[in-house]
Amino acid sequence: MAEWQRTHTCGALRAEHVGQTVTLNGWVLITRTYGNQVFVDLRDRYGLTQVVFESDAVDLFREGKELGREWVVSITGLVRNRVAGAERTDIATGTIEVEAKTLRVLNACPPLPFSVTEFPDEELPNEDLRLQYRYLDLRRRSIQRVLTQRHKVCKTIRDYMDAKNFLEIETPLLGKSTPEGARDYLVPSRVFNGEFFALPQSPQLYKQLLMISGYDRYFQIARCLRDEDLRADRQPEFTQLDVEMSFVEREDILSIMEELSADIFDKCLGVKIPTPFPRLSYAEAMSKYGSDKPDLRFGLEIVDIGDIAKESEFTVFKAALEAGGVARAINVKGGASIQDPKTKAPLFSNTALKPGGELPKVAETYKAKGLAWMKAEGDKLTGSIEKFFSDDLKAKLKERLGVQPGDLLLFIADKESIVCDALGALRIHLASKMKLYRNWWDEKADHDEAEKKKVDAAKKKKETYTPVVFQPRPEHFNFLWVLDFPMFGWDEEEKKFAAMHHPFTAPMDEDLQFLAQDADLGKVRAKAYDMVLNGYEVGGGSIRIHRQDVQSRVFQILGMEAEDAQARFGFLLDALKSGAPPHGGIALGLDRWCMILAGTTNIRDVIAFPKNQRARDLMTGAPATVDARQLKELGVKLS
Ligand code: AMO
Ligand code: AMP
Repeated sequence: MAEWQRTHTCGALRAEHVGQTVTLNGWVLITRTYGNQVFVDLRDRYGLTQVVFESDAVDLFREGKELGREWVVSITGLVRNRVAGAERTDIATGTIEVEAKTLRVLNACPPLPFSVTEFPDEELPNEDLRLQYRYLDLRRRSIQRVLTQRHKVCKTIRDYMDAKNFLEIETPLLGKSTPEGARDYLVPSRVFNGEFFALPQSPQLYKQLLMISGYDRYFQIARCLRDEDLRADRQPEFTQLDVEMSFVEREDILSIMEELSADIFDKCLGVKIPTPFPRLSYAEAMSKYGSDKPDLRFGLEIVDIGDIAKESEFTVFKAALEAGGVARAINVKGGASIQDPKTKAPLFSNTALKPGGELPKVAETYKAKGLAWMKAEGDKLTGSIEKFFSDDLKAKLKERLGVQPGDLLLFIADKESIVCDALGALRIHLASKMKLYRNWWDEKADHDEAEKKKVDAAKKKKETYTPVVFQPRPEHFNFLWVLDFPMFGWDEEEKKFAAMHHPFTAPMDEDLQFLAQDADLGKVRAKAYDMVLNGYEVGGGSIRIHRQDVQSRVFQILGMEAEDAQARFGFLLDALKSGAPPHGGIALGLDRWCMILAGTTNIRDVIAFPKNQRARDLMTGAPATVDARQLKELGVKLS
């Protein structure tokens, strides 16, 4: 071992090491000089150790004073107890320090674009800067924690799948387009000019082919690439736990995924998740919650009032119903009387409800033409549309919506899809505004602040207080399955049917009959399922078509004529004729899982080198232009 190499990491030393001479390697997080002592916080992946330079060692003291932030150093010194009262309870090495005897600067550096100490969220350097210097950002303790947890999630998955007899098999990145509903990233071939590989949107087709090859339990922690509009929970390049099984029914897949989910939560967050997960049909999820990934940590259920609205004098609603639409409402319990805790003003004043106000704006984002409302003031219903409803109809509304004094009723009438989207979005907006649920990380922030106060108070009294670590609880996590999706959705723009999940999903056996007639296609339900956690779609899968004739018919319904289907998916159609077992599977969105486990709503926080919201890697500058020579070789001309 070279003289400068570490004997311990920066997280290893404890009281029992006092008196030992040790060598630490690490980065200078921060230095503080007080009269005759320089304190250096030395950091590595494992922790932080305080190093002290004493002024009686004149040269060493001077060198210690000159250390800059993020310099890489090797320090040999003597482990000693900290002076009483200077202990830190927030780090594992908090009772000791190392008195420096030898300092070796392994690499100095100029002042860096930002400090890598932990920031409160509101003081974080802006994300673009952090992504540009991601290698510095990754030094922050909070990101190290997230990446460590992500490793643990993957390890838990691999251990679990291995124990259940699954094989991890890699599938190609350079392949043929696998439709999952997004655009493909294409790679031009140099050898075959004018031809392209498509990067996989998922390993879907390969895993089905593996089933046909007899590898009846497959999994892969797989990269997927989709050129789609990004959101806070979407990246162009993301990771799935991809799973496929043969000779199974839906129930086999759901139960194995529930058990795995519980295992991940137990091992990675110490939370015991109850199984089986509750289930909702797609139809119920849409009508009650306006979403196929409903967050059930709060109520605010959507209720149909079409039959009552039809009897009213409100022409807007009547017209929407006559045009085949629906009229639905949410009873915001106590919404008419609730006050802003700070200003004491009503949270939903009549002004906030007027066209252009806060709530109608949310509805309009989802193409609703307006938002009608009533308030229950005492026994009376007041508001913008109350006059159109007779006393009898008002009584019916009250009963249907369970109205009590102080409630706020919100109504939208429109095409069903618009009503679902708009009321679904309002539900989420209202729940967050009214604080109807708490994310575990918000609760943790409050908890940590209270504990910090206790530590500070104890310090003042020259006592020590060891803060209690926050533990998330099962009620912070709302898992559910959404089942019985429609097989096809009508694509208004393209004027044709599109697969709701993907074209390889099997129709329900009892709905196979509806495949024959175009007019019946809306009735076909798919053997598809989504796993939902706290309002995020964290997984999706299906039982697959394993009959070639059914697969061909589905391609045809999706607008692919036989020749076209043969050209694109001939290999699959042939394979389905070559002894294909019944099979099905699922893919979990690993990044979304890690997001929820890490307590963030930003998917970029759990990916070491993410793209920004415009799908650019700010650190390397990718995508970038390439040489004219390279383009020529690839046979690619830029327009
Ligand atoms: P699906 O397209 O539903 O199914 O994807 C599965 C899960 O992957 C996650 N996910 C994403 N995460 C981050 N960024 C994205 N752009 C992104 N897109 C999807 C979601 C989603 O639930 N082949 C099928 C699976 C199957 O049928 O077995 C598939 O890919 O959490
Ligand atoms: P108007 O009759 O246009 O003055 O609208 C009366 C109220 O109904 C206003 O609050 C509108 O925002 C609301 N409104 C209009 N169209 C709809 C609709 N399709 N669904 C729900 N509310 C609507």
